[in-house]
Amino acid sequence: MPLLIRNGTIVTADSRYRADIYAEGETITRIGTGLEAPPDAEIVNAAGKLVFPGFIDPHVHIYLPFMATFAKDTHETASIAALVGGTTTYIEMCCPNRQDDALEGYHLWKSKAEGSSACDYSFHMSVTRYCTETEGQLREIVKDGISSFKIFLAYKNFFGVDDGEMYQTLTLAKQLGVITTAHCENAELVGRLQQLLLAQGRTGPEWHEPSRPESVEAEGTGRFATFLENTGATGYVVHLSCEPALARAMAAKSRGVPIHIESVIPHFLLDRTYAERPGVEGMKHIMSPPLRDRRNQRVLWDALAQGFIDTVATDHCPFDTSQKLMGQDAFTAIPNGIPGIEERVNLLWTYGVQRGTLDIQRFVDAASTRAAKLFGLFPRKGTIAPGSDADLVVYDPEYRGVLSASRHHVNNDYNGFEGFQIEGRPAVVTVRGKVQVKDGQFVGEKGRGRLLRRDPSYF
Ligand code: URP
Ligand code: ZN
Ligand code: ZN
Repeated sequence: MPLLIRNGTIVTADSRYRADIYAEGETITRIGTGLEAPPDAEIVNAAGKLVFPGFIDPHVHIYLPFMATFAKDTHETASIAALVGGTTTYIEMCCPNRQDDALEGYHLWKSKAEGSSACDYSFHMSVTRYCTETEGQLREIVKDGISSFKIFLAYKNFFGVDDGEMYQTLTLAKQLGVITTAHCENAELVGRLQQLLLAQGRTGPEWHEPSRPESVEAEGTGRFATFLENTGATGYVVHLSCEPALARAMAAKSRGVPIHIESVIPHFLLDRTYAERPGVEGMKHIMSPPLRDRRNQRVLWDALAQGFIDTVATDHCPFDTSQKLMGQDAFTAIPNGIPGIEERVNLLWTYGVQRGTLDIQRFVDAASTRAAKLFGLFPRKGTIAPGSDADLVVYDPEYRGVLSASRHHVNNDYNGFEGFQIEGRPAVVTVRGKVQVKDGQFVGEKGRGRLLRRDPSYF
């Protein structure tokens, strides 16, 4: 069925204007004023609303065996939550661990999403060990349409790689023209500090941040940048949380190292005091890198506004209360992760654009366009133009609401942003021309999402 979005204000990363959008099949075919549609078209009245390109979350975990348990969502639940929140495409971290076979892992991750996700998706392929088979397997995965790798400098003996493996991964990435994303914390220091704190009887969630201080993240970020500089590979720091790490990445950028920066919505809005709450309340806010001292938030907002931070993702990774309680005797056993896939766009809009911190075009760029460009999805995704997929978010800036686990769609018994006010939400969300969400409700087709082919471009 054709789709006509009438009378909205279209906002992309570089333009803002009043026009109608017409889509035939899955693609935008016309943009203009006074467009007519055949009688069988679905017509959406967007008067008084903003029309954004579908938002892209470039860092989520859905299927994730981690810390002796599994993240809670399925692709069905996560994609519905994503769409309700305006995210029409996500890139999941495919994370087989060091003991697993990478290629088998890749096929397993693919099988979990296929026929289950209601929005479009892709994967960053994690390299968690570099052995004889790795090069051949990665070449095959890249040929299959995955043009980004992921490495972890943290999580020693599980996901973590050593410096030699990082070097090998980046050297291959450079040859293949793929971008490498990296979790940057010094694994050795984290392990040592964890043992020290536990030996001192410091077992509660409030000790998680001191076990992974800002300097440990700064070291990881600086080391990753140095390896990029010496291999010529292009990199992307995930979930950057603090000023010292930002300073290392910025110093590398300014000497010409091709390094891009992601931060995630929890680091803009939640600080370490959330993890210092007693008992399970603190555990709910354990993630890595940890929630930081509040002074970092102003620095992150400023860097985002100026475009030094390229993207805002979620690092969506839900564990429920009973899973968090696995760490009640030792903070080192609390599964790391905070959900956010449904809340990211509304929070960034409310606390960024509505509060005057973030320009509306930069908002679209950081939450959609920049990820599409960095990860080989542009202009199919990340903009509104003839020929682009008709992934559209008709956004109601007049909506007022409060975030709560009682209303969210994520498969989790708490909401990391419980009680946060939002000032705007998607009224209608379309994926490839089909309406999937209306007024906060999923009304679409489950399992309709497609794996997006992404080709290498960093040669
Ligand atoms: O705490 C986090 N971030 N959990 C998910 C795994 C990761 O490091 O991204
Ligand atoms: Zn991480
Ligand atoms: Zn992550």
